[in-house]
Amino acid sequence: MNNFEKNIKWHKGEVNYKDRCKNLGQRGLVVWFTGLSGSGKSTIAVEVEKQLIKKGRAVYRLDGDNVRHGLNSDLGFTKEERDENIRRIAEVAALFKDAGIITLVSFISPYRKKRKFARKRAGSDSFIEVYVKADVETCAERDPKGLYEKAKKGEIENFTGISAPYEEPENPEVYIDTDKLNVKEAAEKVLASISEKL
Ligand code: ADX
Repeated sequence: MNNFEKNIKWHKGEVNYKDRCKNLGQRGLVVWFTGLSGSGKSTIAVEVEKQLIKKGRAVYRLDGDNVRHGLNSDLGFTKEERDENIRRIAEVAALFKDAGIITLVSFISPYRKKRKFARKRAGSDSFIEVYVKADVETCAERDPKGLYEKAKKGEIENFTGISAPYEEPENPEVYIDTDKLNVKEAAEKVLASISEKL
């Protein structure tokens, strides 16, 4: 059913994206962190958020584990549910961007097609894909939440990297090799990419 058949119509306001950006003295961006569970996405995003706040920027962080406590608490980890998870958060991130906010999004987001969708919704020139690279062995060694151990014992189904796929980004704007960079260095790399766009 299309919008005409559903009797819904776009209602245009009198304030636009440019007005909002002018008020905030910045533009909106979607900074999309992707990588395995335990790769360090959230930790780096937290550091980036802290630095941006120090600089007086309007920033907000959307984190997979956190969003799954509320908005997406009805979703599990099948391919279909992850796709819906990412679809919703891509829409939310695009709204935040439209509000003029620097939006830091950290979800595993294992499927290329859905990350491409997120990029399209934000607008490619407002989207920074950050690949937080750590291989499964490294993440399983760190295992900050003890989930890899459970997944290996078969206690968690569809676990990314163990029993569900992760499709690596082919051309991310920022590539973080967590074997080589510490959290501060990784955050600096992301902040440099954000500065280029602002
Ligand atoms: S995504 O694949 O749909 O993008 P998301 O980032 O929201 O995943 O959630 C991942 C977090 O959920 C992980 O960091 C981990 O704490 C938890 N989790 C629980 N079950 C799984 C699973 N089967 N695979 C991956 N992560 C899981």
